[in-house]
Amino acid sequence: MDPTPGSTVRTDRLVREFRTGAERLTAVDEVSLEIAGGSVVALTGPSGSGKSTLLHLIGAIERADRGSLTVDDVEVTALRRGALARYRQRVGFVFQRYHLLPALTVLDNVIAPVLPLPGRADHAARARELLAAVGLEGRERALPAQLSGGQQQRVAIARALMGRPRLLLADEPTGNLDSATGAQILDLLLDLRERHGMTILLATHERAIAARCDRLIRLGDGRLVEDIDLTDGEDPAETFDRASRLRL
Ligand SMILES: Nc1ncnc2c1ncn2[C@@H]1O[C@H](COP(=O)(O)OP(=O)(O)O)[C@@H](O)[C@H]1O
Ligand SMILES: [Mg+2]
Repeated sequence: MDPTPGSTVRTDRLVREFRTGAERLTAVDEVSLEIAGGSVVALTGPSGSGKSTLLHLIGAIERADRGSLTVDDVEVTALRRGALARYRQRVGFVFQRYHLLPALTVLDNVIAPVLPLPGRADHAARARELLAAVGLEGRERALPAQLSGGQQQRVAIARALMGRPRLLLADEPTGNLDSATGAQILDLLLDLRERHGMTILLATHERAIAARCDRLIRLGDGRLVEDIDLTDGEDPAETFDRASRLRL
């Protein structure tokens, strides 16, 4: 196991607004959170509640309008362009629709994010290792269309790990998969958390997925409306039972 437990994340009254014409919509509304390094957190809430926007803010894909984001000891919301780009490279992202490049092989998709950087042979070796770690050894030369949805998501996860992230953000990573395949993707994420030492924040609508996380955070209209510790030091079966009764 990697000695680093994954990034700690702290948001303080984080706000993101969108303006369309005269309308102003607060997608993320004063969200304050503290996420412990190495935890796996489910982000839930109805469609439009701000899950994706919050993930984008934490990954610095979008900028907050107000409030602060601190990851480990770095105040991300205060970073200038160059430092912000470096921060972004160290965050892993996984999306519901995989976002693989259809014309590239599986191996090249995994290498793609580091392609501008020198050291192609090293990258290829690392990409092969990661593909083996996600259970895709032997499929390096396949094209995405030749893989199942679950396999494509495994490629996307391997790609997200290329930058050795200590923080992985997953936006409904099992949303396009049947429940058995989705459970396997979560198994993989939990296993990678152990082996690589990562904090994982994942948006999900699925109770079976959320129930296996360490913590559940629910958003409603951009606000934090519920925050439940699912570990709590109690019997896991009891935790699961309680979680299975959660409204999602
Ligand atoms: N780029 C954008 N421009 C305008 N409104 C947006 C944009 N992105 C998201 N929104 C709005 O912000 C709110 C939160 O969206 P989102 O974060 O995608 O929610 P969720 O992921 O929970 O479905 C929604 O009302 C959505 O329509
Ligand atoms: Mg979303």
